[in-house]
Amino acid sequence: MRAQIFPAHTVDGAIELPGDKSISHRYGMLGAIAEGTTRITNYSNGADCQSTLGCIRALGVEIERRDEVVHIAGRGLDGLTEAAGLLDAGNSGSTIRMLSGILAAQPFTTRIGGDESLSRRPMDRIMNPLRKMGACIEARDNRFPPLTIRGAKLHSLEYTLPVASAQVKSCVLLAGLYADGITIVHEPVRTRDHTELALQGFGAELEVQGRTITLTGRPRLHGCDLHVPGDISSAAFFLVAALIVSESSLTIYNVGLNPTRTALLDFLAGMGAQIKVLDVRASGGELTGDILVRKSAIRGGILEKAQTAALIDEIPVLAVLGAASQDGLSVRDAAELRVKETDRIATIADNFARMGLKIDVRDDGFDVPGRQAFRATELDSFGDHRIAMAFSIAALIADGPCIMNGAEAASVSFPDFFDTLRRVAG
Ligand code: S3P
Repeated sequence: MRAQIFPAHTVDGAIELPGDKSISHRYGMLGAIAEGTTRITNYSNGADCQSTLGCIRALGVEIERRDEVVHIAGRGLDGLTEAAGLLDAGNSGSTIRMLSGILAAQPFTTRIGGDESLSRRPMDRIMNPLRKMGACIEARDNRFPPLTIRGAKLHSLEYTLPVASAQVKSCVLLAGLYADGITIVHEPVRTRDHTELALQGFGAELEVQGRTITLTGRPRLHGCDLHVPGDISSAAFFLVAALIVSESSLTIYNVGLNPTRTALLDFLAGMGAQIKVLDVRASGGELTGDILVRKSAIRGGILEKAQTAALIDEIPVLAVLGAASQDGLSVRDAAELRVKETDRIATIADNFARMGLKIDVRDDGFDVPGRQAFRATELDSFGDHRIAMAFSIAALIADGPCIMNGAEAASVSFPDFFDTLRRVAG
């Protein structure tokens, strides 16, 4: 699909966002292996989270969507059944990496794969710890999907993550649910902790001390009533839109404000963004609130080390902000961008070149000078949802209408992105 995007005079009004993608995956998976029914409101309507539900259904779990509530009839830790064919994780790295932790412990064999992009993403990062727990997993070239997972009896593990990855941490913890004894995970830097919070909510015995998580195996998980807050990573596109388009003022309601995700707001504030967070409240184990953002004079910034890990999904749209800022943006320690849905350093650089924007690229990051003029052009998502959305925001300040090719990619996390954009940006 080709979307045409016109320059905007203002970005204003009030919006709500789809349910957080990371939290939806976790609530879905834990609902499947809990005892009793889990009811989830505002479950993400993005394709990735639908892939998670599809996989769970194929494992014998009944799921119904009634009046915007997802009902999952949990089957308990040992109630999943063998799937008839290959499980399809679509484009979703979270689905394949986290679900593999559960699949490794089942008394049957599962094959799980996905689309072309997913088939290029490294799985050795989960295969290594799972094999240490006793799992039997094969992969294409010993690294890439599809995976063949022969379920086995798992034993507990003490594991230090070699890369900062919430998906790998979650995979080990989900496998740890099935292991006898205590599983311990040490993180190099703190990553999003939705799995830890959800596990506690579902009744697991889990403790967090600094960057160490300790989980007791074989808990009884019980079904829960849960609400998913709006996705702060989707909010990032609209925050940047309001920051760079003149005379903008936008309210975003019910945004997830988990402290392991709000580094975005701190980083933007450090660049000079006028952002107010209003009415913070608890929603299950998570925090949520409303965000008010206005057009601001944005200085420059340097993103590095732990902050890069915390903002890894937001970097495409931050690159756009950097080019529109006064002093530009440097991104360091971001080699992980190379193994996302696309090689995001390459796909950012490609779209920058199309818009006549300068960028100096390195293996693990880039430098973007500030005060650049955005030229109207044909852009490309390369099938990557965050690239589609980041450069649709860039198009709002181009010197004429732009085309986004492959705009449908946005639906991986935000099916209503273009409708929402039209509503606030005309
Ligand atoms: C996610 C973790 C991050 C993030 C991804 C979602 C999660 O990936 O980029 O979009 O839900 O745990 P890594 O764990 O690979 O850093």
